[in-house]
Amino acid sequence: MMSELLTINDVTKVYGQKTALGNANLTINQNDFVALVGMSGGGKTTLLRMIAGLEQPSTGKIEQSGQEINGINRQSRVMFQDDRLLPWMTVRDNLTFGNHQEDKVRQADELLAAVELADYGDYYPSRLSGGQKQRIALARALMDNPPLLLLDEPLGALDALTRLKMQDLIMDLTQSRQLTTVLVTAKSSVNYGPRYS
Ligand SMILES: Nc1ncnc2c1ncn2[C@@H]1O[C@H](COP(=O)(O)OP(=O)(O)OP(=O)(O)O)[C@@H](O)[C@H]1O
Ligand SMILES: [Mg+2]
Repeated sequence: MMSELLTINDVTKVYGQKTALGNANLTINQNDFVALVGMSGGGKTTLLRMIAGLEQPSTGKIEQSGQEINGINRQSRVMFQDDRLLPWMTVRDNLTFGNHQEDKVRQADELLAAVELADYGDYYPSRLSGGQKQRIALARALMDNPPLLLLDEPLGALDALTRLKMQDLIMDLTQSRQLTTVLVTAKSSVNYGPRYS
C-alpha cells in the first residue's frame, strides 16, 4: 500500500532578489527512494534544508505525516555534502553523540560493521580517509532508523571506486532498513534500480 510521508506543495525559496527554488511540487511515499538530480545552484540543498526544517519556505507548504514542518524536523536526518564529524569525539561517540548507554553503543557498533569500519570505533576522525569519514557520516545518519533520510550529494567528494562502493552501501542499508530516502546528486551518477522513483 502506498502511504504518503512527505508532500511539497508549490514551495519556493527566495533570498533577497534571488530565487533559490521556484515552485517545487513532490510527494514522497513511505519507503520511497527518491533521487533529486539537478544543476549546480538549482536549489537541491535549499529544498533539503527546508525539509529538515533548517529554513522556512518563502511560499508554499511542506508537510510530513500530515503536519506542517515548523522548526527543526526531528522526524528527518540529514547527511550534508561535507561529513561534519566532530573532531574531538571518537568515531563511536560521533555516532552516539557521546551517549554510552549499552543499546546506543551496540547500535553504533552494528552500524560501523555495516559500513565495514568495525575496527574504527576508537579512532578519531582525523585518522580516517575521506571515504571512511563519509561512511561514518552515513552510519551516523542511520542511527535510530530516521523516518526520513536526506542525503545531500553523499558521493560527490569521493573517487570513482569509492563512489560505487558508497552507492552500494546506501542502497543496501536503506533497502534492508526500509528507510524513506531522498538522495540529492548533481550529476546522474546513480544507477537507477527498480526501487528508484
Ligand atoms: N543563504 C543563502 N543566501 C542567498 N542565496 C542562497 C543561499 N543559499 C542558497 N542560495 C542560492 O540559491 C541557489 C540554490 O542553491 P543550492 O545550494 O540550493 O543549490 P544546489 O542545487 O544544492 O547546488 P549544488 O549542486 O552546487 O550543491 C544558488 O544560486 C545559491 O547561490
Ligand atoms: Mg547543494
